[in-house]
Amino acid sequence: MKLQLATWPEIETYLERSRSIIVPIGSTEQHGPTGMIGTDALCPEIVADGMAEEKELLIGPTLSIGMAQHHLAFPGSVSLRPSTLIRVVSDVVESLAGHGFEHFFFLNGHGGNIATVQAAFSEIWASASFAGRDSGLRLQLHNWFQGPRVVRLSRELYGDGDGSHATPSEISLVLSGYPQAERDVALEPKMPPSGSIRDARDFRRQHPDGRMGARSDLATAEHGRRLRDAAVADALEVFG
Ligand code: NI
Repeated sequence: MKLQLATWPEIETYLERSRSIIVPIGSTEQHGPTGMIGTDALCPEIVADGMAEEKELLIGPTLSIGMAQHHLAFPGSVSLRPSTLIRVVSDVVESLAGHGFEHFFFLNGHGGNIATVQAAFSEIWASASFAGRDSGLRLQLHNWFQGPRVVRLSRELYGDGDGSHATPSEISLVLSGYPQAERDVALEPKMPPSGSIRDARDFRRQHPDGRMGARSDLATAEHGRRLRDAAVADALEVFG
C-alpha cells in the first residue's frame, strides 16, 4: 500500500495492525552521461515496490532530494544542505510518530545521504534522551546497494567496474523499471577515475563526465531484474 494513494481512514485502519512504514530516500543528481538524474530516488522506489509485493507493507512518500552538494556543478542536480536534510528527516519521523508509527525503514539510494540520515536519527534520539522520555521508535537506515546479495551480484556482474557513482548496478536497476532510461551514448574513457569527494567544482574537475570509477556502459535491464530480486531479499531481511 502506498501512503500517497491511501485515505486517512485507511491509514487509521492500517495502524491497528502495523506500526511500520518504508520511507524511500534518494537524491536528484547527475548520474553521468547515461544515468537519469532521478536514479537514486527511483532505485529505492523499485525495491520498496518489490518488498510490498512479498509482504503487506506501507510505503511512504519518497524523499527524492538529498544531500548532493558535490554534484551541483552539473546541470539539473538539486541538493539539500546536511542541516536541512536533518530537519526534513526529523520532521517526517515526528509527523508520522504522532499518528502512532513506531518503525521507520529508510530505504536509501544515495551514499551521500548516509552520514546525514544517521545524524538525523541521533538528533531524534537526543530529543528523547534530554527530555528523559522513551521515544519508542525503531529507526532503520538500509542502503539497498550495500546489501550482501546485491554486493555479491554486482561483483559477479561488473567486478571492479561497479565503482561508486553512476554505477552499472543502479543504472541497471532503473532500466528494469523504466525502459525509457536507455541511452545510446559512447563513454570515454571506459573506466573513469575514482577519488575522494569535496566540493562541487572539485568533483567536476576530477570527474568531468560525472562517473566515479564506474563502467556505466555495462548496465542492462536483465541485470536490473536480478539486482531487484537481490535487493528486495536483502531489504526484507533487514526490515525483519
Ligand atoms: Ni546514485
